[in-house]
Amino acid sequence: MTDSTKDRVYIFDTTLRDGEQSPGATMTHAEKLEIAQLLDEMGVDIIEAGFPIASEGDFRAVSEIAKRSQDAVICGLARANLKDIDRCWEAVKHARQPRIHTFIGTSPLHRAIPNLTQDEMAERIHETVTHARNLCDNVQWSPMDATRTESDYLRRVVEIAIKAGATTVNIPDTVGYTAPVESADLIRRLIAEVPGADEIIFATHCHNDLGMATANSLAAVEGGARQIECTINGLGERAGNTALEEVVMAMKVRGDIMPYQTGIDTTKIMNISRRVATVSGFAVQFNKAIVGKNAFAHESGIHQDGMLKNAETFEIMRPADVGLAETNIVMGKHSGRAALRSKLKDLGYELAENQLNDVFVRFKELADRKKEVYDEDLIALATTDAAED
Ligand code: KIV
Ligand code: ZN
Repeated sequence: MTDSTKDRVYIFDTTLRDGEQSPGATMTHAEKLEIAQLLDEMGVDIIEAGFPIASEGDFRAVSEIAKRSQDAVICGLARANLKDIDRCWEAVKHARQPRIHTFIGTSPLHRAIPNLTQDEMAERIHETVTHARNLCDNVQWSPMDATRTESDYLRRVVEIAIKAGATTVNIPDTVGYTAPVESADLIRRLIAEVPGADEIIFATHCHNDLGMATANSLAAVEGGARQIECTINGLGERAGNTALEEVVMAMKVRGDIMPYQTGIDTTKIMNISRRVATVSGFAVQFNKAIVGKNAFAHESGIHQDGMLKNAETFEIMRPADVGLAETNIVMGKHSGRAALRSKLKDLGYELAENQLNDVFVRFKELADRKKEVYDEDLIALATTDAAED
């Protein structure tokens, strides 16, 4: 299958909005501008730059990101009231391609907060989406907690939003409650059953409370969603949002069963991951898929030996695909002789077989005492005799 026959999936990044909402992840104005620029450069289709009514700082950041944007659509978030929507428009209107994203919680639990009946909420949705559409051609609407909303009511309000002019309808799994089969089915049924659904884009927005955000997002795409909402490193409230790097790389690596393409330059993933970790203060866990320190690291002898013979033995993607220079062969107590020989050769030491045997014995002794044996340790082992040791 060639790329042009693959379906396009739009990547909507909300690192600067939902990501920044994680307690303690606040970013400065300059940091937000930097991350927005990196997102734009890596080919993110839509950047949710913030929540303009939330604070003066958010408003300034969204306006400035909008002014500087190049290719990406710049989106701001607004609750379902006219004041929020007007404020959002004031911030995003500077963008080459602005979008207003307005939302309201539609599940019984969320309807109870403003104490609205189903009819009153339906009326509010009609009024606010109509208002947003009068300001901007590109309007996204979200029924928050959609996955816990009664299916009849969800169909009804999605139809109202489409008729009022929403061009994208996002189906949030706000509390990470759904599962892949249900996620696919929900989108499939909405597209099949709601009048006008085939004329707009459906989006999926998953949280990771049960560790299923990536699987749920990809399942929603199988069901017909063509926009995935995600964040760099999966940053986000509680257990986070869908990780951009995971869904993008999954579709790239398994294009055989997920024939979708994105506009993301995946070689920029590692750099932006590191910048987001630094500016948010949220370190990436070592074994995090795609961007963790150990995602391309190998220590066991069997793995290292396999890697030295053919990288595909233990790697399903190349480090360069995500912007990493090379696989990391970590020297530790599980490493074998082949890895030691190769590592020493890279460091400029080609040892005779008997010398290598001797260094290998001393390397194992050292590795039993240290978690990781560094290049300097190996050089010291290679340049000192057993007797001097
Ligand atoms: O998780 C959620 O429901 C949200 C909405 C505001 C889209 O972030
Ligand atoms: Zn969210």
